Amino acid sequence: SHVNRLAHRGAVLHFRQDPGRHGTDAYEYWDDGLLLVAGGRVEAVGPAPAMLSQLPKDLPIMDHGRGLLLPGFIDTHIHFPQTDVIGSGGSNLLDWLENYTFPVEGRFADPVHAQEVAEFFLDELLANGTTTAQVLGTVHRAAIDEFFQAAQRRGLRMIAGKVLMDRHAPEYLQDTAASGDTDTRQLIETWHDRDRLHYAITPRFAPTSSESQLASAGRIAEEYPTVFIHSHLAENRDEIEWVRKLFPDSRSYTDVYDRFGLLRDRATYAHCLHLDAQDRRHMATTGATAAFCPTSNLYLGSGLFDIAATDAAGLRFSLATDVGGGSSFSMLRTMSEAYKVAQMQGQHLSPLRAFYLATLGGARCLRLEDRIGHFGAGTEADFIVLNPDATPLLARRMAQSKNLVERLLLFMTLGDDRCVAATYVLGQPALIKRSARSQ
Ligand code: GUN
Ligand code: ZN
Repeated sequence: SHVNRLAHRGAVLHFRQDPGRHGTDAYEYWDDGLLLVAGGRVEAVGPAPAMLSQLPKDLPIMDHGRGLLLPGFIDTHIHFPQTDVIGSGGSNLLDWLENYTFPVEGRFADPVHAQEVAEFFLDELLANGTTTAQVLGTVHRAAIDEFFQAAQRRGLRMIAGKVLMDRHAPEYLQDTAASGDTDTRQLIETWHDRDRLHYAITPRFAPTSSESQLASAGRIAEEYPTVFIHSHLAENRDEIEWVRKLFPDSRSYTDVYDRFGLLRDRATYAHCLHLDAQDRRHMATTGATAAFCPTSNLYLGSGLFDIAATDAAGLRFSLATDVGGGSSFSMLRTMSEAYKVAQMQGQHLSPLRAFYLATLGGARCLRLEDRIGHFGAGTEADFIVLNPDATPLLARRMAQSKNLVERLLLFMTLGDDRCVAATYVLGQPALIKRSARSQ
């Protein structure tokens, strides 16, 4: 009866709660499951034999064999212009920014360049099974406009923003408090909640915005309560010391953002490594969340995200790549590095929780869980298929695995974009496989 009604059969996993808090009630899993998609949305999910007995005999079925169907990954913090910074040197955050990142971002004054990178970036996200990301641009308004247009053409749910920075950066990368305010407001009016797109007010971090620019960001955030806020916080010791000197009246780095009204629901702060209990508890009460970026924190030597302290403060967090400080577009690789960061502190990140963080956990931090991140009826059918036989080693270890948790740990330990067999956006195949791209 429905147009475009199609059933996808395979192993199916999705989350209802955080396994870090709700144990095994947190997820639904079927070895032989069925995801029923109609009109680009999830109609139903469950065990294949029982569902098929209730469905019309002529319903088309896509059989994914041993593939694992999951909601598309959600990357809550990534820089599209830093696609061309990934794997650059830099001894620490501030050196890496000045000597590797700012020069590359300078090229985004050219919208033609911005468009080419945006297309490559979106291909790369989809090849890695990421269907939604919260994305920083550069200071250039036209560059983020190109990004939004590219995401719109592909029908993707994406959050993005023009970077605000009016000091302590090269001249060619600075806006002013006034131009940043005007550009941000116009971009919100053009893109926020248009199709599947959302705007994020994006002060790069406290050191590169004047008090007047932070105040402007806070005013816009108050005027547009559904718009996102996106920045960096407490990543590196030298950065924190710099903030202490620039804002001597603030109790802490976190307090700087708070004073300007930048801590609230739908505000995401990347890193949050060097916070105290008061910062974490206060952030939690405002509704702001942390983005844990393990490959970046290890690559730049910034520090180890403390999951236990974050949980103890009731502060919610998501998982993110932070390309190009981060060293991979893959949320599987990111989960694996997050697992190791926990190990280094005598903590444990369960594979179930890692997959939760990369799907429903991210959606919840972004307050998008009514639309994406799980297979509840009526949600948007952005989903992926992971192939357990993608490499000889993975296939061998998978054949030895005894349960779901072991298989998830193998996917995150050994997997990357080679495992992503398919990526669907609103029920339509959207993945261009690497092998096809390179031909
Ligand atoms: N802090 C300010 N800007 C950046 C950036 O581009 N990457 C990271 N990792 N941290 C930052
Ligand atoms: Zn970042």
